[in-house]
Amino acid sequence: MQREHWGSRFGFIMAAAGSAVGLGNIWKFPYLAGSEGGGAFLIIYLAMVATIGLSAMIAEIAIGRYAQLDPIGAFKKTGGGPWVIFGILAILTPFLILSFYSVVGGWTIAYIVKSFALMFGGGSGVGHEDQFNQLVSSPVEPIIYHALFMGLSMVIVLKGVTDGIEKASKILMPLLFVLLLVLVVRSLTLPNAMAGVKFLLEPDFSKVNSNMISAALGQAFFSLSLGMGALITYGSYVAKDSNIRTSAGWILSLDTVVAVLAGLMIMPAVFSFGMDPGAGPGLTFITLPAIFESMPAGALFQALFFIMLTIAAVTSSISLLNIPVAWLCDEKGMSRSAATILVSVVTFALGVPSSLAMGVWGDVQFFGMNFFELLSYLTDTYALPLGGIGSCLVAGWIGYGKIGREVTNDGALPFALLPVWKWICRIVAPIAILWIVATMTNLA
Ligand code: PFF
Repeated sequence: MQREHWGSRFGFIMAAAGSAVGLGNIWKFPYLAGSEGGGAFLIIYLAMVATIGLSAMIAEIAIGRYAQLDPIGAFKKTGGGPWVIFGILAILTPFLILSFYSVVGGWTIAYIVKSFALMFGGGSGVGHEDQFNQLVSSPVEPIIYHALFMGLSMVIVLKGVTDGIEKASKILMPLLFVLLLVLVVRSLTLPNAMAGVKFLLEPDFSKVNSNMISAALGQAFFSLSLGMGALITYGSYVAKDSNIRTSAGWILSLDTVVAVLAGLMIMPAVFSFGMDPGAGPGLTFITLPAIFESMPAGALFQALFFIMLTIAAVTSSISLLNIPVAWLCDEKGMSRSAATILVSVVTFALGVPSSLAMGVWGDVQFFGMNFFELLSYLTDTYALPLGGIGSCLVAGWIGYGKIGREVTNDGALPFALLPVWKWICRIVAPIAILWIVATMTNLA
């Protein structure tokens, strides 16, 4: 069967930026920046993104485009032998990440519904923290929303690469930007907004330590969708004559701009209403609704915010879902529809214990973590970093002959920084990533 390709470069950039821009940017980045020292975190994060992040992104897209295959096929073709393990990892990790990502995606849909209820006068009658805890700890409600979120992602992926993923991203990503800008302007025009801006941008270098640096790199990987097959798979649909480096530059810049804008949307509002910027994961689901409540037309802004968050989450989840689907189609000869339904159902089932871990199964602990935290920890700490090392090593060493040529389109697009890229892939990125894994495991 002829492999599908993106209809245009814009389509590819929107789809890949859709993958990158997600809960990681809007939910995670502001609270991480909030708890890890504001501007100092931002500077370290930007440094990580511009060096290791960019190099790994170019490597992954180039590996995919060279191979024109799913990640396992791609690692077979570029590395072969034991390197295929990284391909297997790239197929397994999306199941794990998507399973709990979809649970959080379900919460975002639940909050859209709540916002509309609020607009029509139906408040929940309980405090914001209780409201959130009631939702996530219920044994049924969040699972229904999780099913809805998975279903939405499944419908898009079922339609294929150009008609499904690309088309949806071309509509949803510009919409996301517009919503984000509206919300940033609203937040920046609140009284005392500048305190939030200052907090986000003013660096306090006394907060810099190894934990913060490793959190910044971990976040860069997650946010840029690196370290698993997402960009390898999306890269496999990229036209042979397009410039991988400029596309990577676009994707990375859009992702970073959205993260910073999300910070500029959340922090001024947090400061304006005297909330705690270091509130952690509850910042989005507890602090923000409290803020919206005290704002004129707050229910409307709350609805816009959660619609935007759901869009961000869906365009990421389709890139995750598409990875095992591509493998089943490319290597197992399955039809796209059968593969998509199978992967969606399995991932949905795997997400159920994550959802229950917030409530009735909260006591089931693994190394002091519930199931949701365990999956998030294992993927953040090990799977994504190791996946990233795999792509960098294959691109920089064993597959360099092929991938280096792919990056320059066989010499047609000369790249002055090729040696820099090569050495980052060969040495700098793998060592930095290993150091981070060690720090997060508390071995360093
Ligand atoms: N980049 C997404 C986010 O920031 O939310 C998450 C993600 C999507 C990670 C796809 C990895 C991936 F392959």
